[in-house]
Formats: sequence, structure tokens, C-alpha cells
Amino acid sequence: MGTSIVVTSGKGGTGKSTFTVGVASCLAAMGKRVLCIDMDMGLRNLDLMLDLSDRALMDVTDVLEGRCSLERAVTGHHMIHSLFLLPAPVTRPAEEIDQERMRALVALAKEQFDFVFLDCPAGIGSGFRLATCAADRAILVCTTDPVSLRAAESAVQLLRRTGKPIHLAVNRITRSFLKITRTTIDDAMDALALPLIGIIPDDPKVTLAASKGQPVITCSDRGAARAFYNIANRLLGRQIPPMKI
Ligand SMILES: Nc1ncnc2c1ncn2[C@@H]1O[C@H](COP(=O)(O)OP(=O)(O)O)[C@@H](O)[C@H]1O
Ligand SMILES: [Mg+2]
Repeated sequence: MGTSIVVTSGKGGTGKSTFTVGVASCLAAMGKRVLCIDMDMGLRNLDLMLDLSDRALMDVTDVLEGRCSLERAVTGHHMIHSLFLLPAPVTRPAEEIDQERMRALVALAKEQFDFVFLDCPAGIGSGFRLATCAADRAILVCTTDPVSLRAAESAVQLLRRTGKPIHLAVNRITRSFLKITRTTIDDAMDALALPLIGIIPDDPKVTLAASKGQPVITCSDRGAARAFYNIANRLLGRQIPPMKI
């Protein structure tokens, strides 16, 4: 039985989708069967980030409403063979989707995959609740800026009520930014009172890889790619020392 992980933040642009693709591709490259479910209804982008727009024709609602089986709706990545995608619908609002059905879909996916990632939309409204309802655990992706931390606090408050384990990933770290603003990763952890699963450096290869529709590990083994490997290993229960920025 696999594990379902919601990747969330409270705010847009902190790197949730980047994190989802980054960590999911590492786990798949290590031989795990991994499914990414894009939960950003109406603003989906994992199909672009994985270069699967032309092939991934079915979406979450096709499975939820019985038009297609899960096995037929998922699309495999052309380079990383045990990485699969189930896209979000283009137009359907999250409020119209039933949480019970979503839980059943994820339960079924956990029978077929080792990891199921739910890539959350921005905000803490209905899309957040739908993405969160079926997850076993949550990873909150934030940056070190105060706006991101405040939005993360609101998401943490809601997540705590669910009793799910929550970990923090701090993204887009640069040494110079930390120095100028005197923020530290400890500050982010203290502000949110969450255990850290990893830090990800700001890395131009991330944007470059995304624009080509490739996971960053296909074009780098340092920087963000290394950080995603570290986090994937920690999810597999391995002890990996903290990354130096
Ligand atoms: N570690 C990073 N280094 C450089 N750019 C990043 C990093 N993480 C995310 N980005 C960039 O930030 C933007 C927002 O990332 P995205 O994953 O789409 O955020 P979200 O899903 O939270 O809205 C994208 O252009 C992405 O390429
Ligand atoms: Mg996103």
C-alpha cells in the first residue's frame, strides 16, 4: 500500500509544482511507482512541466465520474518510466468535486503506486480542502519571505486540525538572500513549528528544465536536483545529512 502526500503552501508561486515534479521524479528514478495528481483545477500545469499535454487526455474528473478507469487515465512519462500523471480538469471548479469520491480515487491509486503526490492549488479554499482530504501526510513548501510564511501559517492551522503529519520544505534559498535579510531556515521552522524535510536552493536549472518539460534531474545532479534526491531519500526513511547552500 502506497503513501499519499499533499504538497501545499497557502500561497502561489512558492514552488509546489516544482517540488512535486522534482521529488516524484527522483522517487521514480529510484524504482518506485509514482503518481502525480494535479489538483490545481482550472490552472493545471504538471502536464506542461512533464511534457505530457499531448498524451494526457483524461483528467481527475474522468476517473471520479466513472468515464475512465484509473489505469487508463494515467499517462506515463517518456523518460522516467515509473512516473505517471493524472491531470486536473481544465474548467471544473473544486467545489463541484465530491471529497468522498476523491478519497476513494486516492485509496485505489495507493493500491497501484508506491507514492501518490497531490499538487495543491494556491490558497486555502475548496481546492486546498479537496487536495488535502485524501492525503496521509502533508509537505508545506514555503520560501523564507514573510508573505510566504504568513500564508503558510494559515495552511498549517488548517492542516493541524486534520491530525496528518506535516513537514516543511524551504525552497529557493540563496546564501546572499539569507545574509541580507538575516533570515535563517531555523526562523522559518520556528515560525511554523514544523520539522524540516529539506531545503532547496534557488537554481536556474529549475526554470530551464520546466520550460523544456523535463524534470530537473534529467539535466542536473547538483543544486535543486540534489536537494530533491535528498528529500526523496528521506521519504524512504533514509538518514541524509542537511544540504549546504
Ligand atoms: N528552487 C527553485 N529555483 C529556481 N526557480 C524555482 C525554484 N522553485 C520554483 N521555481 C520557479 O518559481 C516559479 C513558481 O514555481 P511553481 O512550482 O509553479 O510554484 P507553485 O506551484 O507553488 O505555484 C516557476 O517559474 C518555477 O520555475
Ligand atoms: Mg502549482
